[in-house]
Parts: sequence; C-alpha cells; structure tokens
Amino acid sequence: MAVLPILVAPDPRLKTQAQSVEKVDGEIRQLMDDMLETMYAANGIGLAAPQVGVSKRVLVIDVARDDEKPNPIRMANPEIVWASETEQLHEEGCLSLPEQFAEVMRPTAVRVRYLDHENEIREIEADEILGICVQHEMDHLDGTLFVDHLSNLKRNMILRKLQKARRGQPATV
Ligand code: NI
Repeated sequence: MAVLPILVAPDPRLKTQAQSVEKVDGEIRQLMDDMLETMYAANGIGLAAPQVGVSKRVLVIDVARDDEKPNPIRMANPEIVWASETEQLHEEGCLSLPEQFAEVMRPTAVRVRYLDHENEIREIEADEILGICVQHEMDHLDGTLFVDHLSNLKRNMILRKLQKARRGQPATV
C-alpha cells in the first residue's frame, strides 16, 4: 500500500475522460488499495483514480463515521442504472479543491452497477451521503468537478481562490 499524491485543480488531468477497466486484476486491486490509503490519509470519504493521475474508471468510498467500523467500497466501471426523480441540494467538498465547499443539486438516490475488487458485478442503491459521494466520484471519471455544477460566477470565484492559495497569497473573500 502507498499514499499517492492528489492532484489539485486546475490540472488538465482532472478534466479528462477516464478509460474503462477491462478486468479487475491484481494491478487494479493494488490501485484500489493505494487509493483507499490515500483517501484515509487525507480524511476524505471518496477518491477517484483521475485524482491520483490514473485515467481509469476506478473509485473508492468510505462514508463510515469516525465512531463506526471502516466500510471501504471499491468500484470499477460504475454505471448509474437508475436515478430518483427527486433531487436535493447538499454541500460538497473535494480533495482536489482543498477547503472549498458549495451546494450541489443531485438526485436523492441512485442505483449503481459496478465491478468489485474481485471482478464480480454488483449493484447497490445509494442515498444520503453515500448517494451524493458516489455521484460526485463518478463525475470525476468524466472529468467533471463539483464546481462544474455551479454558475460560472461561483466556479470562477472558487478556482481563483485556489490559484491564489497555490501562489501562497491569502485568498480574498
Ligand atoms: Ni472530488
């Protein structure tokens, strides 16, 4: 296992379409485990392979709270097979947009089909924080960040703040 560096926006690798995995083999399993270690080290609840510079349709999630047992989920080639008509607004953040948060509108619940770490097809129905997280991570596989769901004005404000932070200057609010 290894902690991998996480890319921060704006980085063109975060904006590219990731490739499907042919089979979940030892190499993909290793990637999933490294991504989980990276996510836990960064105190995240989800991480997609493009965020560690790997253009593959792989993501990991663990939405267990600190007082609960870890519950890691490893997915390859996830697909949304059903989404609720009802939507909800929920505040999101992202390890690739450090310290930035905004409310995003998404379906309240989704059913996701994916390959697990043993290359078995699985399906889960996800709502609440898991539903939001899986939709957010799947967006990463298509080069979409949560700020891409916001107005241009809000998105540019957040990206400017990140650029200033990167140059080591205090961000103006
Ligand atoms: Ni993210």
